[in-house]
Amino acid sequence: MKFFVDTAEIDDIKDLAATGMVDGVTTNPSLIMKSGRDIIEVTKEICSIVDGPVSAEVAATEADAMIAEGRKLAEIADNIAVKVPLNWDGLKACKTLSGEGKMVNVTLCFSANQALLAAKAGATFISPFIGRLDDINLDGMDLIAEIRQIYDNYHFQTEILAASIRTVNHVKDCALVGADVGTMPPDVIRKLADHVLTAKGLDAFMKDWAKTGQNILS
Ligand code: E4P
Repeated sequence: MKFFVDTAEIDDIKDLAATGMVDGVTTNPSLIMKSGRDIIEVTKEICSIVDGPVSAEVAATEADAMIAEGRKLAEIADNIAVKVPLNWDGLKACKTLSGEGKMVNVTLCFSANQALLAAKAGATFISPFIGRLDDINLDGMDLIAEIRQIYDNYHFQTEILAASIRTVNHVKDCALVGADVGTMPPDVIRKLADHVLTAKGLDAFMKDWAKTGQNILS
């Protein structure tokens, strides 16, 4: 499973990119707002750090304007994926932009039928939002599994980009049901390496090592 980091914070992206775990980045208007940066400038900087797809979201609400914004965003770098919302205007924009050879991420997906439409419109990525479904007492992971089955049934190439991931268990469950990509907040990626027994075991090893008085480098 590929890991995308869901942020527009440059320090976090640089820190995580150094681990080799970051296969791409997703942003959205809320994340751009939080960064306090200009969308074009910050997206260009992100694309200079990460080679994989960097999603940048249109802000227009009508198809023609989405297409114009998508073309401008795609000029930032070759690895831009234009993000459009899952409604009819977004689907029209997806069809046009993907027809021009641009990567398109169709976002705000909350149903399997929506995911089917996005694949038919030529989306590179579909972004089902797990956490926001869980928030209203639905099961976001069921949606990922349904989309996996539908895409496999018809051999769609659209990649399932599980979004709105809130916990490390979401990551494991996405991997188990076969999401192609998970986009996660930086702290969720960091927590994936945590285990109480790893920390306890390392602490014991370090205490015993200190007692040996040895130094590997001298
Ligand atoms: C994905 O592309 C979105 O930016 C993101 O995952 C939304 O997550 P949230 O529901 O935690 O805001």
